[in-house]
Amino acid sequence: MPRIALYPGSFDPPTNGHLSIIQRGLKMFDGLLVAVLKNPAKDSLFSVEERVVLLKGAVGGDPRVTLKTFEGLLVKFAQQEKVNTVLRGLRAVSDFEYEFQMANMNRKLDKEIETLFLMTGEDYFYISSRFVRDVARLGGDVTGLVPGNVLAALQKKFKR
Ligand code: PNS
Repeated sequence: MPRIALYPGSFDPPTNGHLSIIQRGLKMFDGLLVAVLKNPAKDSLFSVEERVVLLKGAVGGDPRVTLKTFEGLLVKFAQQEKVNTVLRGLRAVSDFEYEFQMANMNRKLDKEIETLFLMTGEDYFYISSRFVRDVARLGGDVTGLVPGNVLAALQKKFKR
């Protein structure tokens, strides 16, 4: 049985921090199911379809990476996909509380679900999609923080 982990997120937009987690996750698992949350309640910069296209471009067609979208509870999606390991990146102390609560809530909802955290590499610990969006919107240069296709999409979005 191939070992598959679920890597969920908003990915609005995908960053080099996300890509690093994907690449490192692939050293531990045979494949990753990268799942983009469809959250109609949250204003997003890129539509969920755009985010999938951006992730697809960024992972460069690696056959070990499957991309899907999901709505509602993550544990339900994990059950549906028959995956019980959730992979998450952990950047700093500030991420810890939220991630700790989420991992425990998910395990409470389904005791088979384990969350595995990868510490974000030193080059990426300060990168977040929110800051990338804000900096790009305000005309700052996000080169090196996001994959090339995401940089191009941000430039197009903000017409620079
Ligand atoms: O990239 P993000 O925004 O940090 O990802 C958060 C995500 C998508 C993993 C999380 O919000 C999620 O799993 N949402 C689905 C709803 C859910 O299952 N909530 C209960 C867990 S606390």
